[in-house]
Amino acid sequence: MLKDDNRKRMLDKVIKQFNYEESSLLEILHKAQEFYGYLDKNLMTYISDELRLPPSHVVGVATFYSYFKLKAPGEHVVTGCLGTACYVKAVDEIMTAIEKEFNLKRGGSTPDGKLSLFTTRCIGACAMAPNIIVDDEVIGKATKEVVLERVRLTLAGGGRRR
Ligand code: FES
Repeated sequence: MLKDDNRKRMLDKVIKQFNYEESSLLEILHKAQEFYGYLDKNLMTYISDELRLPPSHVVGVATFYSYFKLKAPGEHVVTGCLGTACYVKAVDEIMTAIEKEFNLKRGGSTPDGKLSLFTTRCIGACAMAPNIIVDDEVIGKATKEVVLERVRLTLAGGGRRR
């Protein structure tokens, strides 16, 4: 089951825009990776259900293209929305603070593999900008302090796990 959040709503919108057509699978996978940072089994199963395709077909397409990431490289994932509304609300500052405190770069992971940092574009929650997603939790109107504390807690084992 895919968690019902803004990313899922955006994905549903895209799938609908493409009219649930099998021929749009590649575009849909691109969008899904843009929203989620990577395509895990859960996400691919959801897409295969929506398009009424066998899961093996979706996995086959995703594994064929090296562009697609099939799992989160880190145990925990933080994703910052770099869409316009979030950017204007200084999401970049929060991302930089995460990079500094946890010693990693956007698109990368900490050496111990505990944390990965991704970026995405508009997740459809602009009114709550800036948005940062820690694992499955979307933190709206995020501040540096709140996000850093949430990530610290998550890494200490107190956060929600994926
Ligand atoms: S720009 Fe971040 S939610 Fe729209």
